[in-house]
Amino acid sequence: VTSRQRICDVKGVPLISSMHEIFGRVEKFQAKADDILIATYPKAGTTWMIEIMDSIRQGGITKEITTIPSHERTPFLELSSMGTLPAGVDLLKDMPSPRLVKTHLPFQLVPQSFWDKGCKVIYVARNAKDILVSYFFFHKITPILPHAGTWDDFFESFLSGNGECVHSDLSSLSVLDDQHHRQDPWSHSALLLLLLLHIDGSFPHPRAPRLKVLISVLLMEIVKHTSFNMMKDNPMTNFSRMPTCIVDVRISPFMRKGQVGDWKNHFTVAQNQRFEEEYRRRMAKTSLRFRTEL
Ligand code: A3P
Repeated sequence: VTSRQRICDVKGVPLISSMHEIFGRVEKFQAKADDILIATYPKAGTTWMIEIMDSIRQGGITKEITTIPSHERTPFLELSSMGTLPAGVDLLKDMPSPRLVKTHLPFQLVPQSFWDKGCKVIYVARNAKDILVSYFFFHKITPILPHAGTWDDFFESFLSGNGECVHSDLSSLSVLDDQHHRQDPWSHSALLLLLLLHIDGSFPHPRAPRLKVLISVLLMEIVKHTSFNMMKDNPMTNFSRMPTCIVDVRISPFMRKGQVGDWKNHFTVAQNQRFEEEYRRRMAKTSLRFRTEL
């Protein structure tokens, strides 16, 4: 039985039909000033960043973190109600502040209230080659997404931008191009790690040394809790608690490899060449450089 959804055009962005249907409510969503938006292209490391941010928000690995699945603690803004999971906009209504909000919407579709309220945004980006591979495997375990076909089919669909790849193709990464980047609020988002190092290094309080030790212990706890192996085995983060009509990890794990450079196991030499050409063309305006291997 398949429940694969149609792809619909929402202001030029291909989204699954249920997101198209709920988009009117998403657009009108009222953000609060202390909301934190975690915005990513799918497969960029959203779940990892959510877990880090929530551990900080809660002041450590609390009972909530260890007993409530990540997708309930950090609602997915544009996801409509499916199975036992309420729509993101409904889950958010009942959440205490400060709320963490997950979105895969490109900049131009983010509800205006986030900008009006001056909300903090964390934008996570990952090299597009590993995203492509990760997204291919994700399609296989996500019954609501279009059929991925073979690796070659998916590669073509992602690169050609023929509207079969949800949340748009490679060109959606142009949200990062210099012209947008200089003007848009993504560029004001703080890098979490820098923020923490700053706190740890220059805490002005007289009890700073003691606080510094406490922060270091907390940091180490969070680093351990959010490591790939821990998150892979943790039912709260590995998507095993997600309704199977949305993501079915019985097919294969959501936490797949968590590596930089896995694309080399999938791209042919010809595909790599084609990818490089297309990437250079579409990302010509950006000065951002991503590492595709370590
Ligand atoms: P792979 O499929 O390459 O393994 P998202 O949460 O945006 O959907 O991204 C999922 C990708 O992030 C998957 O990539 C997943 O394995 C990886 N990931 C999730 N948690 C991670 C962690 N703690 N460390 C490294 N990679 C992680």
